[in-house]
Amino acid sequence: MSDSQFTPRVFSGMQPSGGLTLGNYLGALKRYVEMQDEGTYETVYCMVDLHAITVWQDPAELAAKTRELAAAYIAAGVDPERSILINQSQVPEHAQLGWVFNCVARMGWMQRMTQFKDKAGKNAQNASLGLFGYPALMAADILIYHATHVPVGDDQKQHLELTRDIAAKFNHDYGVDFFPLTEPVIKGAATRVMSLRDGSKKMSKSDPSDASRINMTDDADTIAKKIRKAKTDPDALPSEVKGLEDRPEARNLVNIYAALADMSVEQVLADHGGAQFGTFKPALAELAVAKLSPIASEMTRLMGDVTEIDRLLARGAEQAREITAPILKKTYEIVGMVGS
Ligand code: TYM
Repeated sequence: MSDSQFTPRVFSGMQPSGGLTLGNYLGALKRYVEMQDEGTYETVYCMVDLHAITVWQDPAELAAKTRELAAAYIAAGVDPERSILINQSQVPEHAQLGWVFNCVARMGWMQRMTQFKDKAGKNAQNASLGLFGYPALMAADILIYHATHVPVGDDQKQHLELTRDIAAKFNHDYGVDFFPLTEPVIKGAATRVMSLRDGSKKMSKSDPSDASRINMTDDADTIAKKIRKAKTDPDALPSEVKGLEDRPEARNLVNIYAALADMSVEQVLADHGGAQFGTFKPALAELAVAKLSPIASEMTRLMGDVTEIDRLLARGAEQAREITAPILKKTYEIVGMVGS
């Protein structure tokens, strides 16, 4: 099947289940803005509140976090005049197509999902059914727009492969060329930002240690302190990329620097090779504060006008439904639902 029949369209989303980390920003959000600014694609960016409730969320906090995430998108450069900005539950076609995909995806496919295994932990019997079906709803998020490209961090790769499997099985079972085989966009120096305390663990909002991550709302002093205290080894930085092998913490800080500065890792090492962490860390802290502080203050400003955020989300939902309603209708028709 050729994808050229599909409008170049980007979809991506994040869970409003906690604060944003530097990992979310460098792995995904920064790329949302770049793809919007490229002008090649229609861009749709989403707060996935239905995904968030696959694990328990306090209702008042979920609402606050959803608005805060919208503010973070806008503060980082997602422009509601150029991108469609939505909250998942306000566009009902996501959940409706999600049900159809629950009937396309196989139990065995879901059981192989490493994120389910990680999140459900040892007590999988007690996980919600929603958590198990999470990737089918994610496929629906993407395919209800016939999205062709999805910018994400490295940890979402398996979910995007599953999205392609679901599209291919639907097309095959019903003998149609209806859903595109979406391309993941996993690019840049920081597709997997690691914990500042342990270079073998992903930086995550759910890590119990706040020192392990940089939050997008951390103030300048906190950012500097966390970077100063970041785990490293005693050696100086190498001048070549090869020298970062087996040095996960050093590699992580260099990757973060490269992504924040829009430089390649090679360039960073050309500039800082031979430096001790005693000098590299303050340079990284200064760069991080310069890039992140304006986003944090813009977020605070936007959160001062919640009515405006709600207005933007209601408008985004209307714009989104112009795309999603016809795609759902056609899906129902293909499947054989009377009245569609
Ligand atoms: P979530 O909310 O866990 O993460 C949002 C995005 O941030 C990226 N990310 C990272 N990138 C690099 N390093 C890290 N340490 C790091 N931590 C998180 C994630 O890869 C992701 O791109 N399942 C998705 C949400 C979702 C979605 C979708 C995404 C639902 N539907 C449709 C794309 C398309 C998730 O849990 O993201």
